[in-house]
Amino acid sequence: MAHFPPSFLDEVLSRTDIVELISRHVQLKKSGSNFMGLCPFHHEKSPSFSVSADKQLYYCFGCGKGGGSFQFLMEHDGYSFPESVEYLAEKAGMEVPESAAPDADEQARRKQALVLLEKVANQFSRVLASNEGSEGLEYFHRRKLPDELIRRYRLGFAPPGYGFLSRSIGNDEHSLAQLEAVGMMFKGDRGYADRFRARVMFPIRDRRGQVVGFGGRILDQGEPKYLNSPETSFFHKSDLLYGFSEHRDEIRKRKLLLVVEGYMDVLGLAAHGLPVGLAPLGTAISERQLREILRLDDAPVFCFDGDRAGRQAAWRALERMLPVLDAEHGPRFLYLPDGEDPDSLVQTEGADAFVRRIENEAKPVLKTWLDGLKFLAGSGPEGRARMAKKADAMLAVMKDDYLKQAWRQEAENDTGLTLKSQAAVDKKPRPKISSISPSIPNQEKFIAALLQKATRIGKLLSEKNKFLLDDDGLNLIYTRVLELAAAGNGIVQSLLLEFPQEERIPLWVSQSDISDEEYEKLLLLMQERFFHRLMKKAGSLEETERCRIQWDEIRQKLEKVGH
Ligand code: GTP
Ligand code: MN
Repeated sequence: MAHFPPSFLDEVLSRTDIVELISRHVQLKKSGSNFMGLCPFHHEKSPSFSVSADKQLYYCFGCGKGGGSFQFLMEHDGYSFPESVEYLAEKAGMEVPESAAPDADEQARRKQALVLLEKVANQFSRVLASNEGSEGLEYFHRRKLPDELIRRYRLGFAPPGYGFLSRSIGNDEHSLAQLEAVGMMFKGDRGYADRFRARVMFPIRDRRGQVVGFGGRILDQGEPKYLNSPETSFFHKSDLLYGFSEHRDEIRKRKLLLVVEGYMDVLGLAAHGLPVGLAPLGTAISERQLREILRLDDAPVFCFDGDRAGRQAAWRALERMLPVLDAEHGPRFLYLPDGEDPDSLVQTEGADAFVRRIENEAKPVLKTWLDGLKFLAGSGPEGRARMAKKADAMLAVMKDDYLKQAWRQEAENDTGLTLKSQAAVDKKPRPKISSISPSIPNQEKFIAALLQKATRIGKLLSEKNKFLLDDDGLNLIYTRVLELAAAGNGIVQSLLLEFPQEERIPLWVSQSDISDEEYEKLLLLMQERFFHRLMKKAGSLEETERCRIQWDEIRQKLEKVGH
């Protein structure tokens, strides 16, 4: 961790007013010597979140979260500690001492990348407003997005043909390499080429509002309809939600959150006075995204198509949210009429009718679950047995005991069968890593192997072929391990602090030693899966080819180690 001199941290804090900092997001009211408001970290209807100007601390009597200004930025905006120090120092007009940041390199690179993406976003919106972008602007107008909204969401246009970015950002090797690193260009046989061409552009911002990537839609017909920035160290699709930084405060204020499928749904709703939509970035919604959604609102509405695919997507989202659900949450599921999405519906029926539709038709999560089970089970006694089995399996992953009991009773009423007792479900021992089903354990084992030997992480950091893991949750831990190692931090301790709910960390650490041989094999397996996925997702033929070459290399190595 960066070592800031204590006197410096004191100085930063003395120039910061926590009340001002927090009131940007939370409405605070003076109450005695404190300020009170609705807690931004959990859901509540009467304020139990207090901020003390004297002590420069916040504390929530409801959920127990508390800390000072640095912690608030870390908890609320997702800053790292050094980032929160830097942010507040800058606000206070102070220079961060050079020596304070041993991980200065990595941070500097990240900063440069963000500055670059910011520039790119500006270029795309500049073009949209110019002659060169008239096609794009007409497109947005056809989709009924007003100019004010186009500006607010910083929509843009990437002109057709190659060379726009090198013309507008820079043609030198450094600029080009940087553009490649942030996913805006790719290197083909004939040099660098623009990834996004002839597309309207949607900048995707992180929790802090910084542009970290883009989605681009083709104008009319063509494939792929939507193209996204590739995964990079700061653009993790499964961690981001389109609309989050723009809509967070509005969602809290209105206590309404609509989870929709696409960028245009988010914008169409906003254009009709409903700036409360969030969308995943073209991927199935992840547990982390669900956590974020449920933290923001206790009764988010998930909008799905009414067709078979929509029902399947709803079921997947439901399965994924089970571990995160507790009795405080009442998510709802809304199935839309055939062929409609939120964007098209709000255009035809207007915002009021859409909100009324939610009130009348959105199904509570429990009802959605029971209906889904029945559908899966079909009819007859075998069907009921199947349903009971499935219900048991799903209940087993729920963490809130009371909610679990309540749901079990409902499912028992519906099936007329007795589900396994809670004890039986709960006490099933967690299988040892070596015996879990084959897809997950390798990824877990890989992380365990890293935690056992720091030199393995060191080597990964210097590898040119960065890769990610399949499993969202594990990938988050894995990338964090790399970051912590790069910053020279104590890894296991930090992980335990940062992932308090992740019960598997101690289990990994206490694994019997994983040999270097086995580790090398695991490493190749991880890379194999990653490049395979990359290849499947590649946006162009060149890219596919490039990934295939990498993939083949890894497969050959795997064969050599006898896999
Ligand atoms: P419009 O046709 O513009 O109204 O799109 P939509 O908002 O109705 O989106 P659609 O239902 O076609 O897709 C929903 C979301 O899935 C989009 O916002 C994208 O994030 C993603 N998506 C759709 N098509 C593609 C595609 O071809 N490739 C990728 N990567 N993502 C896509
Ligand atoms: Mn649409």
